[in-house]
Amino acid sequence: MSHDDRQLHLNVNITNIGRHPAAWRFLDDPAAYVDVDFYKKIATVAERGTFDAVFLSDGLALHQEPPVEPYQSLEPTVLLTALAGVTEHIGLIGTASTTFNDPFNLARRFASLDHVSKGRIALNVVTTYSPQAAANFSFDESPDHDARYARAEEFVDIVTKLWDSWEDGAIVGNKVTGLFTDGDRIHTIDHVGKHFSVRGPSIVPRSPQGRPVLVQAGSSEVGKALGARVGDIIFTAQTTHTGAREFYTDMRARAAGHGRNPDHLVILPGLYPIVGSTESEAHARKDELDSLFDFDRELPRLAAQLGVDVVDLDLDKELPYDRLVDVSEVKGSRGFFESTVRQSREQGWAVRELILRNGGAHRQIVGAPEQIADSIEHWFRARAADGFNLNFDVFPTGLELFTDHVIPELRRRGLFRHEYTGSTLREHLGLPRPQSGHQAAVSV
Ligand SMILES: Cc1cc2nc3c(=O)[nH]c(=O)nc-3n(C[C@H](O)[C@H](O)[C@H](O)COP(=O)(O)O)c2cc1C
Repeated sequence: MSHDDRQLHLNVNITNIGRHPAAWRFLDDPAAYVDVDFYKKIATVAERGTFDAVFLSDGLALHQEPPVEPYQSLEPTVLLTALAGVTEHIGLIGTASTTFNDPFNLARRFASLDHVSKGRIALNVVTTYSPQAAANFSFDESPDHDARYARAEEFVDIVTKLWDSWEDGAIVGNKVTGLFTDGDRIHTIDHVGKHFSVRGPSIVPRSPQGRPVLVQAGSSEVGKALGARVGDIIFTAQTTHTGAREFYTDMRARAAGHGRNPDHLVILPGLYPIVGSTESEAHARKDELDSLFDFDRELPRLAAQLGVDVVDLDLDKELPYDRLVDVSEVKGSRGFFESTVRQSREQGWAVRELILRNGGAHRQIVGAPEQIADSIEHWFRARAADGFNLNFDVFPTGLELFTDHVIPELRRRGLFRHEYTGSTLREHLGLPRPQSGHQAAVSV
């Protein structure tokens, strides 16, 4: 695809009530994070903005000591089923852990959702680094970083084989002859590996997209290796233009190394725009939210992410770089660690500023619609990104401001669709519908 033909891809990262920790204090119903109607409203606004997809992340533990504040609570596939019923076009991305799930059940759940949504589903596979989650699943401690990825590699292959186990055309439904299915088009997978043994076939016929879209979001060496091999969408935390360009180029080369077309990898860094009709209005919005910022809650979160003791962090000083471990020794997310440390060092920020300006490890821009569109265009044209996974300060207002003021600006610049031209998420993303491995083998 030539430079100018590329179209931007935009997702809404539904971080429950918003990315800002004080978001709930701006809602009519502070408990909206467990109200399905709240999420329906978000999905409806996102569809009005012709976003590619909405995205639900997930965690498998209450990652705060009570008293807690809003977090990802509702199970993603359950919530996405409800959102599929009130939308027609927008893609629906749900997160699931390869460490604390079973491939047969998960393949079935997402294939079912692809049928229910008529081809709009994606599975974001995560390896789950949380020790609190491990404690909820009968583990004494979180499995080692690379061991989690070894399991993920095998897990994803099984899921893909199960999705492929029914070929297109397997349901014949010939009322005259009485032949319902063509047995030659339904296959066992007979997988026997280090972690799993799964016979198959799947109990869900091939789904509208062939296979649900696969999303991968690991930025460590093993994370990138998995993403480049199997990912359709790559989520990543990139806070600097140089880092993002390096990542983008590297991932495309890795995909090509697997014999894949690099244009079939959609690379979406996170972005956290705070929108106002003017720059000063945007800053006023942020200042109002930040005046309610609770540093006593955020400091331990940052300390845990960086693997340091909270007493080593001083709000008025820079990060204690000499006390940080090397990225290769980080037990949790190496991607989040690296993007946070890199941005902080490059900007020379004190910890207070880092916390206020590094929204969930994603790049923050505060400004008028044109300024936000400029930054998006700059990264997109420089091939630092194919689009963005967008975070908003407070739902639904942050998303509404973006939809009503930034989306029209992106459309005016010829960067973003005016309306949906396809009906599946693969079509929105410009990705081909894959054939079943069995069909491909026959057609060679
Ligand atoms: C945009 C984005 C969203 C993510 N969502 C989740 C999530 O919902 N749940 C989760 O456990 N990890 C999530 N992750 C973490 C990664 O999937 C990955 O498991 C983690 O970063 C560890 O991998 P790494 O060390 O290879 O970076 C997300 C990462 C990114 C960049």
